[in-house]
Amino acid sequence: MEAAELELPFLAMDDAAFCADPLPHFAAARAAHPWLARSPDGYVITDYFAIRELMRDESKFAMPHRSIVSAMEAEGTPWGEFIVTSIQGQTDDVHKRLRDILQPAFTPRAANRQRALMARVIARLLDQWAPRGAGTLSFDFEEFAASFPITVFCEMIGASPDVVPGIRSSMEAIGVGFSMNRALLPRLQEAIGLMQRFADTLVAARRAGERRHPEPDLLDELIASVDSGKMADSELNNLLIFLFVAGYDTSKNVLTLIMYRMTEEPEVYARCAESVEYCRKVVEEAFRYLNPVTSARAVTQDFTYRDVNFATGDFLFLPFSMATRDPRAVEDPESFDPERKQTNTHLSFGLGPRICLGRYIALAQLEEGLRLIAQRILNPRMAGPVGWRAFPGTWGLKGLPIEFDAAEQEVQAAE
Ligand code: HEM
Repeated sequence: MEAAELELPFLAMDDAAFCADPLPHFAAARAAHPWLARSPDGYVITDYFAIRELMRDESKFAMPHRSIVSAMEAEGTPWGEFIVTSIQGQTDDVHKRLRDILQPAFTPRAANRQRALMARVIARLLDQWAPRGAGTLSFDFEEFAASFPITVFCEMIGASPDVVPGIRSSMEAIGVGFSMNRALLPRLQEAIGLMQRFADTLVAARRAGERRHPEPDLLDELIASVDSGKMADSELNNLLIFLFVAGYDTSKNVLTLIMYRMTEEPEVYARCAESVEYCRKVVEEAFRYLNPVTSARAVTQDFTYRDVNFATGDFLFLPFSMATRDPRAVEDPESFDPERKQTNTHLSFGLGPRICLGRYIALAQLEEGLRLIAQRILNPRMAGPVGWRAFPGTWGLKGLPIEFDAAEQEVQAAE
């Protein structure tokens, strides 16, 4: 049966009410068709196992980057070039070469080596945002969470934290670049321009012998790849920007979604202060429960899956974010249980040859962050309404106002 001729449930993924509460819409869609739905811009795979099976063979798909740049009429512009030449926009050999260059710095062991740095960054942020002994405080947790991944990545490449506000505003702009809104183009070009100048200046300073820390870091490794002919200067510039982009909205939105859930789980939250091991279970369950990414693929050759024929040019959405709330894949999916045995594990980092390279960094950052946050931000409670971001792409909260009790002064050890 042709996909185009099927009567399918419709998911209004661009609708504000849908973005605020997508779960019942997915449940209704699954009741109407076991694994497929339609949305304004393409088909949506609603079944956990179908997502896994389809992602097993990427040869019939392309990333949507070129189509999006073309729809935005931005070919040849700084933003358009950034998107199509990014590691995610690249294919085959170039994609593999760039992944191989990054791989050694993104192993679990390499991520673990960054844990002390991550803990230092979050402790510094907590000193500013939740000073000890300050009594009852309130702030927008999303604002707080926004600085964390950018500052960690700045530290990993030896950039000064002074650049964090400028990078953050560029990230906010670039993060909505796939919304197909041409009115955003001037802001996107400006943001990419700022990031390119930042990356060029950083690399030039390092080549001139300027460095903030004596120890070798990720930037040294990437510059060595240029010097040994493995990649071009322009590819290094693009990678540095892409790594900020890939780690920003995703990590910020996950941390904010975790805190949102924790306001409903005071006992779980209080235990997070005790150990990174417990935080690991909470983070794993939080990814299963709600996570931000819906990815997309353009079909590049006709193919049939479960008796449905898809045609070249079709667009498929893969909502990793909703996959592990599917009761056919996870028992009792609505209960948040950090102790549950994770069998059909979450798909938050994607699958296959394009699986997230930064996943171990992201996990280490969330685990270290959550433990220290739980030690310093006590009894968090909602202090106002939340908003929601667009669902396709990187979904999550738009603002999370919380009130909390700041931890007391640390008890000084007796002399
Ligand atoms: C909670 C945080 C994160 C989540 C949920 C996440 C999720 C994802 C997903 C789903 C993909 C695959 C997209 C697809 O196949 O269409 C991806 C790719 C990628 N991510 Fe992450 N990510 C996170 C953090 C990070 C961080 C911190 C970094 C690096 C500092 C990073 C670097 C990358 C890179 C380089 C790719 C492209 C891989 C490729 O195309 O081969 N990510 N991420």
